[in-house]
Amino acid sequence: MGLIALGVTGGIGAYKAVEIARGLQQGGHDVVAIMTASAHKFVGRVTFEAITQRRVITDQFAPGANADIEHIALASDIAALVVAPATANIIGKLALGIADDFLTTLYLATRAPVLVAPAMNTNMFSHEAVAQNLSTLRDRGVHIVGPGEGYLACGWIGKGRLAEPADVVAATEAILRTVGSLAGQRLLVTAGPTYEDLDPVRYLGNRSSGRMGLAVAAEAVRRGAHVVLVLGPSALEPTPGAEVIRVRSAAQMHDAVMTRAAEMDAVVMAAAVADYTRSGGSEPQKISKRADGDDDDRALTMTLTRTADILAELGRWRADRVRPWLVGFAAETQDVVERATAKLTRKRVDLVVANDVSRSDAGFAVETNAAVLVDAAGATELPLQQKSALAGAILDRVEAGLSQATATAHATPGDMADPADKPGQHESS
Ligand code: CTP
Repeated sequence: MGLIALGVTGGIGAYKAVEIARGLQQGGHDVVAIMTASAHKFVGRVTFEAITQRRVITDQFAPGANADIEHIALASDIAALVVAPATANIIGKLALGIADDFLTTLYLATRAPVLVAPAMNTNMFSHEAVAQNLSTLRDRGVHIVGPGEGYLACGWIGKGRLAEPADVVAATEAILRTVGSLAGQRLLVTAGPTYEDLDPVRYLGNRSSGRMGLAVAAEAVRRGAHVVLVLGPSALEPTPGAEVIRVRSAAQMHDAVMTRAAEMDAVVMAAAVADYTRSGGSEPQKISKRADGDDDDRALTMTLTRTADILAELGRWRADRVRPWLVGFAAETQDVVERATAKLTRKRVDLVVANDVSRSDAGFAVETNAAVLVDAAGATELPLQQKSALAGAILDRVEAGLSQATATAHATPGDMADPADKPGQHESS
């Protein structure tokens, strides 16, 4: 599952791309449609907008489209680029590396797998120029689906008809299953703050935006993992392509994580889980101040109770087994490495991502983060970088850890977590 860019070019089969978009969505993917100038002659952008629930990209130079260098941003976000229908013209441009519109620029900028579904007149398809261009693309690793044979819109009968939408969808699924360095792996990522309700209108929260966890989830989806995202009350959009479980409180996050942890290859606890909640739970009625305002009433006393430490519980449950590989975060304001190292041992996790939240350019609610990765081998300081880049560095460690775990598991079978043995069963939380 992931975000798929669907490039629609100017062929009679363009209307069938609507069905392809639908098919991809039914498979749990998010679709962003990119239409070339001639595609508009065959089908309207509103149709794709309504189906994909996203802005359709039509013009590289549209006002606003370059504010975040959209083709570059999209290039790193997508799990695949599917061009259907692909005319002889676009096939030629892709083969030659011509970048004169959004779709052709995206093709050059992305490292995601590319699938092309040619559709054209029979003679055009069998022309040496088109054959050579397709062969160039194939040699470059581009996947080709179709074309089919049959009655063509131009009245001819022969090869050139756009592959059936179901076949284009199936070909996309097949590509996504095999690519990506985390293909076949299951990752649970937590993100955002938790809110501990005090009464029907008030809560205890924290400043976490969820950005870091969402960046890890997005990168894991891009690398082909099945991602379960347990998301606290964050204002940000959940990661496309992830299976999303929305929670509010630390207790709900605890339950969601514990229910799914046993089936995971790795768990990344990026959420800022509340350490304390109101003793006895939320007050059913709104807590009101006394009307007289006596000095006695100027203070409100409330008792808070520790929440269950989800990560520590996972660490205890997993014990010396190799999976799930566990990543924790540590938000510190002083002695970052020392404290993170202590957390690594205390919570029995494989990696702690520590950051100094007293810096204004790192930590909560900003796009950048400077972190120290702490594992049993020591500490590695990473420079200030975009959270998406840091997510990549964290997942590189997860991947290395998982390959090592696989090697260990082969050497000592039975070292994997037993899915029937769910964490939290032996805990009083
Ligand atoms: N965490 C958790 N459950 C909690 C609290 C924290 O799973 N109830 C996880 C966070 O998701 C994060 C890590 O533990 O991965 C960070 O813990 P942190 O709150 O920094 O550490 P504490 O152990 O609470 O230490 P301290 O408050 O002393 O810094």
